[in-house]
Amino acid sequence: MPDSAILAGTGERRGAAVPMDPPAAMPPVRPDPELAALAARLSPVHLRQRLNMEGAHGKAVFGYGRTFFHLENWYSIHALIRGVLKLGGLYGRGLRNALAIAVTRHEARLPALPAAFDGLRVLQLSDLHLDASEAFVHALAERVRGVEADLTVLTGDFRYRTHGDWRPALERLERLRPQLPGEVYAILGNHDTVRMVPRIESLGIRLLMNEHVTLTRADARLHLAGIDDPHFFEAGNIERAADGIPAEDCAILLSHSPETWWQAAHAGFDLLLAGHTHGGQVCLPGGLPLMLNADCPRAYCRGPWRYRDMLGYTSTGAGSSIVGVRYNCPPEIVVHTLRRG
Ligand SMILES: [Fe+2]
Repeated sequence: MPDSAILAGTGERRGAAVPMDPPAAMPPVRPDPELAALAARLSPVHLRQRLNMEGAHGKAVFGYGRTFFHLENWYSIHALIRGVLKLGGLYGRGLRNALAIAVTRHEARLPALPAAFDGLRVLQLSDLHLDASEAFVHALAERVRGVEADLTVLTGDFRYRTHGDWRPALERLERLRPQLPGEVYAILGNHDTVRMVPRIESLGIRLLMNEHVTLTRADARLHLAGIDDPHFFEAGNIERAADGIPAEDCAILLSHSPETWWQAAHAGFDLLLAGHTHGGQVCLPGGLPLMLNADCPRAYCRGPWRYRDMLGYTSTGAGSSIVGVRYNCPPEIVVHTLRRG
């Protein structure tokens, strides 16, 4: 094979529409000492790849990842959208809608669930984008307060932007942490940097980075797996996350985006919990989204769904992205009650 063909093979998935970055644009990656342990845990390749992609492509509007267009990174149009909504008299209502967080109750019937876990309540919070609005953090804390659940899962997108300072988002997560019931598990989304991992875990939140934990009650087991962002960074590794889970055991997968639906089902997971889509966030009456940022069937982009033997739930998310408004698509936190059968 000539050298030119080898080089062509390293190009982007969407081909000529996306120019290659010159080699000089790639920043050197020097993981700080805090990340050294993470390199050993994730694999040095995973960490290096994630950091390199964040540095080189974290602001990309076109190309990369599973979808070609990333509106969340087109910051100049955010102001335009805001202005149009204000002119149309819709902005204030959209802001109020975004703060009216619903508590959704969802029951998941899982044939493989051990009797000892029948009735387990899992609180899911997704797409918090915590540094977008202080008013939102206050509304979220008020909504979570008093919700009863046995454990909490956070399914990614803590930060508002996909690049830049991540500390303000985690300072707000620290304030929210005392409100979260039970053990807390989390995954990263496409707005999150892998540099967040040590700080999040210092809050007593266990991140699942292509990993799983096994919950036990008496002799019964329930496995909870989580993957790194499968949408933009395509860093989710289901095979690694599921490694060691017996095929006959009940297992739940946390995946920031539902785009992993068929890989997860064929890996043998019983339930997939996702977010990312915001349900469209801006929808027509009846909940019809104007746009979805996921490369998967619309049926899997909001609420409960099923693919073969696997149940799924895609949360509309609690927070908002791009412009902090919602129409016909309320923000939510979800209490999933697991039932045997
Ligand atoms: Fe996302």
